[in-house]
Amino acid sequence: MIQILPSLLAADGARLGDEIRRVEAAEADALHLDIMDAHFVPNLSFGPDVVRVTARCAPGLHRHVHLMLSRPDLYVAPFADAGAQTIQIHVEADCDIWQTLRMIRDRGLRTGLVLRPQTSPEAAFPYLALCDEVLFMTVNPGYGGQSFMPEVLPHIERLRKRLCSDGKPEFDIMVDGGINFETGAKAAAAGANQFVAGSFLFRQPDMGAAVAALRETCGQAFPGTF
Ligand code: DX5
Ligand code: ZN
Repeated sequence: MIQILPSLLAADGARLGDEIRRVEAAEADALHLDIMDAHFVPNLSFGPDVVRVTARCAPGLHRHVHLMLSRPDLYVAPFADAGAQTIQIHVEADCDIWQTLRMIRDRGLRTGLVLRPQTSPEAAFPYLALCDEVLFMTVNPGYGGQSFMPEVLPHIERLRKRLCSDGKPEFDIMVDGGINFETGAKAAAAGANQFVAGSFLFRQPDMGAAVAALRETCGQAFPGTF
């Protein structure tokens, strides 16, 4: 299933409530929330309180939390308590990845594992049984508005082929960073089926039309078999 997730990082912070409701009205599949600790990545963003705000402004919008933290294991509980419904952690984080994914699952949430552009897709293989999705960063994590890195495309293809040969063709592969119509279609052709987009979607005057068009474009580019 093709899914589109606007990233709140690109929203106008002076009108946060309106921006969250705009994502809900656009019929996006989830709201992507980028959490940065100024250690794992060279930037700081927001914490559990903003997740709480999104739960209040748009209770029906799935809260998809991407933890760019050196110690995500210490923050599973605060984000789960704030209303996160999916929690993603980086495979490069300084914690026991298996235990941390387990901790997220034990809370009844969806789990995701994230790979930096330089990390080989094989790094995710040992954890697939505990993951609901794998996210390939298609920019260096830390900032919105960067250019898509095409060198990640073969990584997506390797994981999709592996999943198909394991009899799991439905497994979700997500991309994040520099996504627009053109790069979304390239990622879909390589095997991605979920698309995070920040600056591209938030700058659209009609976000609903852009979400629908991106879903359509990526769906057309997603091959039947790998
Ligand atoms: C970057 C974040 C992304 C970011 C994407 O570290 O993980 O989610 O918001 O922004 P765009 O779509 O502007 O590249
Ligand atoms: Zn993200």
